[in-house]
Amino acid sequence: MDVSQAVKQRSSTRAYLDKALAESDVRDWLNAAQRAPSGGNLQPWRVIALAGDAKQAVIDLAAAKLSENPRGEPTDRPIYPKHITDAQKAHRFAVGEGMYAKLGIPREDKASRLMWFSRNFRFFDAPLAVFFILDERVGHGQWAHTGMFMQTLALLAEERGWGTCMQECWGVLRPSLKAHFGLNEHEMVYCGMSVGYPDKDAVVNSLYTERADLAEFAELRGF
Ligand SMILES: Cc1cc2nc3c(=O)[nH]c(=O)nc-3n(C[C@H](O)[C@H](O)[C@H](O)COP(=O)(O)O)c2cc1C
Repeated sequence: MDVSQAVKQRSSTRAYLDKALAESDVRDWLNAAQRAPSGGNLQPWRVIALAGDAKQAVIDLAAAKLSENPRGEPTDRPIYPKHITDAQKAHRFAVGEGMYAKLGIPREDKASRLMWFSRNFRFFDAPLAVFFILDERVGHGQWAHTGMFMQTLALLAEERGWGTCMQECWGVLRPSLKAHFGLNEHEMVYCGMSVGYPDKDAVVNSLYTERADLAEFAELRGF
């Protein structure tokens, strides 16, 4: 598979086949992504990859914590900033509505939407869950570079016939995950990622999100 194809076909996978990934394949995949660039080659990321009982323990933790408080735990690093532009709001609205339209869940049916969203906290039944760990003392650059690592993983997953869904929703459980993983005092969970073979028959996986036109995001000068 060439890179253009991997970029084009990658989309968030939110339903998976019940088919395990071999540990050796996961190691190979993580190693391959380690070629991702980072400023000063800091390689600021650390990952925790979970399968089987280790993954189930995190699902159980999430179920327990979210039953105490469905909003999760406070974080000073919310998923979205206070200010997002109107165009960004429109994109966000469109992706949510697009997904629930595929699933046939109307806006008024908040309970079903919430129920569906809670599948995030089961990794959408993916066989592999990956958590990205950052040292809280890093700067904005290192957060961005960790994103490059994540996207490299997502593209390498396509080549392997796997699908991925990045999951920042796990940020609502940062204190509990920190304790659960035994992170050091400076470390934090940034984001999760579900990984596995996509269920191609699942309607949710047919969502292919829109992107802004070139004219909206790019300015070409001097040509
Ligand atoms: C860092 C990051 C975090 C994300 N967190 C979630 C999440 O918690 N749950 C979810 O269903 N999708 C999540 N997404 C998926 C985005 O909604 C998705 O990438 C976007 O709508 C574009 O769709 P596509 O990935 O299918 O191209 C996340 C994406 C990124 C890059």
